[in-house]
Amino acid sequence: MTRLAGKIAIVTGAARGMGAAISRRFAEEGATVALTDVLPEVDATAQAIGPAATAYRHDVSDESRWQEVVDAVVARHGRIDVLVNNAGILMFKDLLATSAADLRRILDVNAVGTFIGMRTVAPHMIRQGSGSIVNNSSCDGISPANSLIAYASSKFAVRGMTKVAALELGPHGVRVNSVHPGSINTPMVNPQGAPADALNRGMSWFPAQRLGDPIEAANCFVFLASDESSFCMGTELTVDGGLIAGHYYYGLPGAPAGILPPGPAPRKT
Ligand SMILES: NC(=O)c1ccc[n+]([C@@H]2O[C@H](COP(=O)([O-])OP(=O)(O)OC[C@H]3O[C@@H](n4cnc5c(N)ncnc54)[C@H](O)[C@@H]3O)[C@@H](O)[C@H]2O)c1
Repeated sequence: MTRLAGKIAIVTGAARGMGAAISRRFAEEGATVALTDVLPEVDATAQAIGPAATAYRHDVSDESRWQEVVDAVVARHGRIDVLVNNAGILMFKDLLATSAADLRRILDVNAVGTFIGMRTVAPHMIRQGSGSIVNNSSCDGISPANSLIAYASSKFAVRGMTKVAALELGPHGVRVNSVHPGSINTPMVNPQGAPADALNRGMSWFPAQRLGDPIEAANCFVFLASDESSFCMGTELTVDGGLIAGHYYYGLPGAPAGILPPGPAPRKT
């Protein structure tokens, strides 16, 4: 598997979850990967991937640390071909329960972190005349859920800044795209590590009727990082088992039978 052969990549938020899966898939496809995270577990994750992986402690909201990480990767490898802005934090709070400080904290990591990452790496990619930046937004950055006022704001911001960056960097040979996952089985949505089967039971409100595996999301990042996606610029790639494709009718209480179709039956498994 050599879809990313010879490429030098940075993946943020790579200690666990989707970032770890992206890093693993990148290395399997021949990339050299710098894994960055605030969590010390990033060292073990990089070690488990092997010699193609190096770990960096890195808070994505820290501008000067971003510069140090990028300088270190360029000093070591001479270039940066791929940046995945994946680090993120989630907060479920209603509008009325959300403080301005809550909103700023979420925006600082999810949106400002992504912005600083693009701005720090872009000069190197422009100099090279090539590069791919893939920003991890969310299906909540397209069609948000309730109680996600701060998180959805940050993910809409990531989606928007991806398009502006795609417009500005595209003429320099640098592609910028966003991925919009939903319901991926990572510590963010399953902090206790409950068995997927138990969580999937009764998930009949969207087509896949199950949580996604982090590798299923990581494969989308491989595509957008690779030269296979050479004509994708400012693209939004959803990987959500159809969660935001549309909605099912479940009939209307009291309405005559047959006017609205029934929703799908839950899968037997
Ligand atoms: N899991 C899902 O269903 C889902 C859906 C849509 C979008 N996302 C997005 O995918 C990305 C990865 O999430 P995940 O599900 O793997 O969650 P996760 O919590 O398992 O992983 C997120 C990683 O980001 C790191 N991180 C948090 N704040 C950081 C900071 N300031 N600097 C550096 N690293 C930081 C964490 O330490 C962690 O390792 C996030 O941006 C998240 O918003 C996840």
